[in-house]
Amino acid sequence: MTIENEKDLAALRRIGQICGLTLQHMLSKVEPGMTTAQLDDIGKEFLMKHNARSAPILAYKFPGWTCLSINDVAAHGIPGSYKIQPGDVVNVDVSAELEGYWADTAATMIVPPASPEHKRLCKFTQRALAAGIKEAKAGQRINQIGKAVEDIARRGGYTIIRALPGHGVGRHIHEKPSVYNFYNRRDKTKLTEGLVITIEPFLSMGNGRIFTEDDEWTLRAVDGSISAQYEHTVVITKDDPILITAV
Ligand code: CO
Ligand code: CO
Repeated sequence: MTIENEKDLAALRRIGQICGLTLQHMLSKVEPGMTTAQLDDIGKEFLMKHNARSAPILAYKFPGWTCLSINDVAAHGIPGSYKIQPGDVVNVDVSAELEGYWADTAATMIVPPASPEHKRLCKFTQRALAAGIKEAKAGQRINQIGKAVEDIARRGGYTIIRALPGHGVGRHIHEKPSVYNFYNRRDKTKLTEGLVITIEPFLSMGNGRIFTEDDEWTLRAVDGSISAQYEHTVVITKDDPILITAV
């Protein structure tokens, strides 16, 4: 969507803050031995307390309030009986709706003890998100976000999971345009003032290729490698974007 007035921005900020706070709350509760279903319940309770509805359920009938993707699962992991282990790389993706407005945010954490190579992966992925955000300005081509993200990934020796782009958001969970995490020179789309998008780089330690499991949701690395993702919903302005989901 494109923000048209103060009411749009205020409503988007409300759901953005709820998503951001839910994410932080869930990350703070992760501990070994807990199942991903228990972690999802913590998110569900927090979202319900704020009258927000799960975007993946509302939009796609996803079997969970949040997406919980562990280790070689890149995204759309279904909460269930899996018990979180020490050293696991845990991605929590929270997207939700309130008053007809939608926001989307995610982060990756490592359950202690964290291996140095996983820490480095997370550091570079956060850096890629920051680099993408820096390029997100009205008048700029949208492919400059992907260029900046790809540049950081390459510098770190990582690949991009090209099948998972950012996206427009605001009045639905997935809107146009796609925000690719690589440089697409043919994409002439320009960012415009008030446009609401997610920026969400996925960096992989392997070849970056994923497949959908038989459950029709879980997106797992073909080569079993670990990936990380961080995501914010942002509003494009002439200057730095407004980080709707930052808390
Ligand atoms: Co997300
Ligand atoms: Co997203």
